[in-house]
Amino acid sequence: MSAPASTTLVDHLASKSPSVRLPAIGEEVSQDEEWVEVELGREWRKIRLHDYEAIFSIQGLYERIVYDQLKCQSPQVVRRLLVEQLLAADVDPQSLTILDLGAGNGCVAEELRKLSVSGIVGLDIIPEAKEAAERDRPGLYDSYVVGDICETPSDAVRTLSSKSLTCLVSVAALGFGDIPPLAFSRAFNQIETGGWVAFTIKESFLLEGDPSGFATLAHSLLQDKILQLKAKKAYTHRLSTAGSALTYVAFVGQKLRNIDEARLPEIV
Ligand SMILES: C[S@@+](CC[C@H](N)C(=O)[O-])C[C@H]1O[C@@H](n2cnc3c(N)ncnc32)[C@H](O)[C@@H]1O
Repeated sequence: MSAPASTTLVDHLASKSPSVRLPAIGEEVSQDEEWVEVELGREWRKIRLHDYEAIFSIQGLYERIVYDQLKCQSPQVVRRLLVEQLLAADVDPQSLTILDLGAGNGCVAEELRKLSVSGIVGLDIIPEAKEAAERDRPGLYDSYVVGDICETPSDAVRTLSSKSLTCLVSVAALGFGDIPPLAFSRAFNQIETGGWVAFTIKESFLLEGDPSGFATLAHSLLQDKILQLKAKKAYTHRLSTAGSALTYVAFVGQKLRNIDEARLPEIV
């Protein structure tokens, strides 16, 4: 499958997907409960935005909803912020082998490939994500691991340990019922010391006392000199299905040392 030269692959896939109806403007629900209606054959089916199995199973649907309708800009924001910091540190992007945590169907990796990085390894917990990435963006990933990095022992960790990873990227995948602090920490610990880390997270998850655990984890990363912060930027990740701006924060930093997993329960 090749996209016409004048459009991006995201546009191309969105144009191939079924029609989508959003709820009425102003009909705000919590982000984890957001839904759209999708025209499938002769019926309209209601699908939750966080039902990734269903969404990735329909070619182009994720692109149609998240990029076309809800104007998501996270992959571009992260690529730009990361490349700015690499340039400032005189680091060649070609030195990076990236772990794309919560990789989904490859929209982030597609953006990261523009940096001519050396390699990208995807990690996701559902097989539908890998299947969609291989269906829609064949050859994008050097390898794509499906598994739960929180398991002990973890096959995913064993596979990742052989990859010499020098950068962790995680976009729009932390918190909610998605990636918990333990999964982020284990992925972080797979990156070589001195490697790069770029991630985005919903701004409210960083507020003191937030139950996601990411506020205390982020605080510890900086306070305990585990991550050297290079850049931090609040931005609009996308619109909600009701039309309001969802603010996320993008971080870029350099790894100084591993997160002490034994201390995690007291940190988060
Ligand atoms: C909102 S999607 C983001 C996908 C991609 N990063 C993007 O921005 O296009 C969140 C992804 O995280 C994955 N995910 C959720 N929990 C996970 C976990 N514990 N480990 C790995 N991936 C997970 C989901 O399956 C889904 O593909």
